[in-house]
Amino acid sequence: MHKDSVSRTLLVATVLCIVCAVLVSSSVVALKPLQERNKALEEKKNILEAAGLMVPGGDIEKLFEQIEPRLVDLDTDHFTDQMDPTTFDPRAAMKNPELIESIPADKDIAKIRSRSRLAKVYLVKQGDRIETLILPVYGKGLWSTMYAFVALSGDGNTVKGVTFYDHGETPGLGGEVENPLWKNRWLGKHIYQNDQLAIRVIKGRVDPNRPGAITTMDGLGGATLTTRGVNNLIRYWLGEEGFAPFLRNFRTRGETHG
Ligand SMILES: Cc1cc2nc3c(=O)[nH]c(=O)nc-3n(C[C@H](O)[C@H](O)[C@H](O)COP(=O)(O)O)c2cc1C
Repeated sequence: MHKDSVSRTLLVATVLCIVCAVLVSSSVVALKPLQERNKALEEKKNILEAAGLMVPGGDIEKLFEQIEPRLVDLDTDHFTDQMDPTTFDPRAAMKNPELIESIPADKDIAKIRSRSRLAKVYLVKQGDRIETLILPVYGKGLWSTMYAFVALSGDGNTVKGVTFYDHGETPGLGGEVENPLWKNRWLGKHIYQNDQLAIRVIKGRVDPNRPGAITTMDGLGGATLTTRGVNNLIRYWLGEEGFAPFLRNFRTRGETHG
């Protein structure tokens, strides 16, 4: 075959395409476990941050040993040992017909359509006493489903931390859910008042002198729609359809059994 012939050029181009395709696809396959490990590590880091236990430069796996995963049955509103919390995968649960429940449209304020009956929560204990309870929450923002953890003190009411670990909102606008300054303003807020859901995320800043400031949280500037999404997902998951009955059991009876 002549060096400059059309068929030789085509042959070289084809071989090059095949080699590149093999290289790209094999690196995707080879890197998948690493990506999944990094994703799991990022989630653990966010749980630690929500609980106020993250140490800059700290060994995430080691720090995570302080945290105990448990499953909550959202139908019975108690902890459950039906499945092993250490291996329970909340994303896989969303595809498990035995666990998935659809949410009636009039109750679906977080716009998630369905949820798993079992929720994986995380505990930080001091002896037998639960010091921190970290709850997974998620719901629609403007462009995306936003996933977060809300850490509550042992009173089942006071916020210890909030971290958004997965979302597709616009950086600088809705993406400010990741801004540490905004996240810090959650600290000390109360979710309930007189046993009723009271927390609200409002447009603009909260006047700290105004009555009810402790149950009102600042919105994100220039991102009213993401703010509304945050308000809705928090109010869904901490409301009567979400963790409120479980937290009521927990507050009134220190309920922890399955
Ligand atoms: C490219 C683009 C990206 C935007 N991203 C967001 C967003 O992530 N979250 C959000 O609430 N609003 C976003 N907005 C703005 C909304 O369309 C809307 O104007 C805004 O939420 C109104 O908020 P404001 O009343 O606080 O200005 C975006 C707008 C544009 C043009």
